[in-house]
Amino acid sequence: MTIVWKDNLATGINEIDSQHKELFDRINKLFQACHSGRGTQEVMNVMSFLENYVIEHFSCEEKLQLKSNFPNYTAHKKQHEDFKAEISKLKQQLEASADSTTFVIKINNLIVNWLLNHIKKSDKELSQHLKEKV
Ligand SMILES: [Fe+2]
Repeated sequence: MTIVWKDNLATGINEIDSQHKELFDRINKLFQACHSGRGTQEVMNVMSFLENYVIEHFSCEEKLQLKSNFPNYTAHKKQHEDFKAEISKLKQQLEASADSTTFVIKINNLIVNWLLNHIKKSDKELSQHLKEKV
């Protein structure tokens, strides 16, 4: 399984777009780790890596929002918080079940779907706001 970056996901804000591409990269590494058969520990390592990157990326977006008085800051931040909680829940499930095959399906349902939706709606709304401010 692979998640492919497409131009229609671009927000036009370079900083955000390059971080989103990096996120895609890390998700693909997570898929690879799941398929590698090298075990749960490797999947956990990549998952922690992804988790850290998500935290960095969200805080970067939130700073841009605060700086530009983005009106939907609170709602957008809430989406980020929910997603971070989702990721830590996934980590716990993985620790408990140690089954990286069903984990692939969960990554796809929870991480990939959420991210695509979030970029297409919420992040594009943010980029529109940032462009209007400039
Ligand atoms: Fe966002």
